[in-house]
Amino acid sequence: MDELKAAALKVRENAHAPYSNFKVGAALRAEDGTVFVGCNVENVAYPEGTCAEAGAIAAMVAAGQNRITEAYVVAGSPMPVTPCGGCRQKLAEFGAGDVRVTMATTGGVEQVMTLAELLPGAFGAAHMDGDA
Ligand code: THU
Repeated sequence: MDELKAAALKVRENAHAPYSNFKVGAALRAEDGTVFVGCNVENVAYPEGTCAEAGAIAAMVAAGQNRITEAYVVAGSPMPVTPCGGCRQKLAEFGAGDVRVTMATTGGVEQVMTLAELLPGAFGAAHMDGDA
């Protein structure tokens, strides 16, 4: 977990967040042990910005990995930053319900939740079974 924390803190420095001034770093461990990182990348056309988690997931998939075993997200917030709704769904695509997501502040406060806790009642492939 220290490795993920260090990676998330480091990549957070690269965030492009001139509009919100809220830098976020994310680090994911894939099934083969590799750590992938991402930061938020904002855009002057605001809705085009992407979250740190989405960047890390894209890097993982581009590298040929598609299972997350643990995740760490950090921001300079007073309380641990929780992934947005869209990122919860993105994380759930690649991680089992028992995957632990550590949410942290740069000041050292941490909160751990599982993906199942972050996205109860998640929409999944089973919902599309038997559609007529
Ligand atoms: N943001 C993330 O990158 N991840 C989160 O978990 C929460 C929010 C970003 C999106 C936007 O660039 C900025 O934080 C403010 O919402």
